[in-house]
Amino acid sequence: MPAPACEKESVLLTLKSEEENDKMNRGKNMEIIEKTIHNQPIGKEALGAFVGGYLSGDVEKEEMTAFLRAVCAHGLSDEDAIALTEVMLESGDRLHFTPREYPYADKHSTGGVADSTTLIVAPIVAAAGIPFLKMSGRKLGHTGGTIDKLECFRGFEAELTVAEAEEVVDKVGAAIIAQTKELVPADKALYKLRDETNTVKSLPLIASSVVSKKLASGAEVFVLDVKTGDGAFMDTVEEGAKLARLMVRILKSAGKRAAAFLTDMNSPLGEGVGGVAEVLDAIDVLEGARGRLRELALRLAGKLISLAKGVSDEAGANEAKEILDSGNALLKLKEIVAAQGGSTELFSPDARRYILSRGAGTVLSEKDGFIGKIDCVKLGNLAREYEASGAYGMFVRVKVGDPVRKGDTFALLLGENAAPAALLTDLRSCFLVTDEAPPVTPLVYEIVT
Ligand code: URA
Repeated sequence: MPAPACEKESVLLTLKSEEENDKMNRGKNMEIIEKTIHNQPIGKEALGAFVGGYLSGDVEKEEMTAFLRAVCAHGLSDEDAIALTEVMLESGDRLHFTPREYPYADKHSTGGVADSTTLIVAPIVAAAGIPFLKMSGRKLGHTGGTIDKLECFRGFEAELTVAEAEEVVDKVGAAIIAQTKELVPADKALYKLRDETNTVKSLPLIASSVVSKKLASGAEVFVLDVKTGDGAFMDTVEEGAKLARLMVRILKSAGKRAAAFLTDMNSPLGEGVGGVAEVLDAIDVLEGARGRLRELALRLAGKLISLAKGVSDEAGANEAKEILDSGNALLKLKEIVAAQGGSTELFSPDARRYILSRGAGTVLSEKDGFIGKIDCVKLGNLAREYEASGAYGMFVRVKVGDPVRKGDTFALLLGENAAPAALLTDLRSCFLVTDEAPPVTPLVYEIVT
């Protein structure tokens, strides 16, 4: 049956206005891309409509890709980076915790190798009476995830609800959980597209992605550890410093207390690389071992204490050191693990002695000289692969700049079975031995507050 004329007309009218709408939206989208290319201000309203449109399917993938490419090539003003962060944050839920004596604290690292600082910082801060509730990730690329480390404690339950995590904080002062809730759906969608279109490495895109998730996860006080160097997203100190400044600026504009440490990732931070080895490394530090892992963990924890309690950096640093040196942080980590259902067996000297006795291969220096360079990305990837085969991980005994003699150990692999010869060869190629000592790099380049 033919449709009545009036109905036909109204369809035509709708079509016309849809077309017009479409044209108008396309014009607006092009304007955002043009403005980005010409470094002109965009504003929160336009960014909100654009990102919202992408989530609802009204903005085409090609248009969003053009915008991401424009941001990668031309950057964004700080004002628009802040606006983009707010738009992403508002795309999903935001957690709110019951107020306590001190504000909730959180720590974020842009991802490093042999970096188990969270397992040291969380118990120090909790033992200082500051609530610490962190949502952590699993392994990403060559870096290990905190949740993977914690799951080395048999039975550890990372998939807690926020209410359950708050109960753990009530009981022991800290909880570390996997991100179960989708807090920032805009970041999920944009990150996927950035990954597909090779537009990950952009300061405002990284900053808005990281900070929107941090803001959504409910804490008031933040320390960020921005890695720079061979094994990091930001390969130069200058780029790392810019990222650190931008993230702190965005957090502060949201009314948070925040500091960012720009730290060296030309060498693995600690010695343990890969699952259980990283946990043992953290326990060693909690039991008094010295070195860069302890130093950085103390500095991050000290800063969190000073920001959360409103005391001087010196007072924060002294309190962190006292808690670590008294053994209270060790006891606190045990409590946190137990409160989340994990076995504390790995804390026992017998269990650790057993694992350390399972030498499965060594990587040795073939000549005298200095460690001139360590390929941390390759090393991290090989360690992840080795860990995935069921091994305990490895201890890397050298840092860039160390003098070495032929036969010295670069890495000791731990597992129940002998490590494959090809893996040992690949690992050896991660260490470059030079005749001259390379320039010494500091552990912390800068602290941005
Ligand atoms: N980690 C994130 O969460 N987002 C980025 O863009 C890069 C690293």
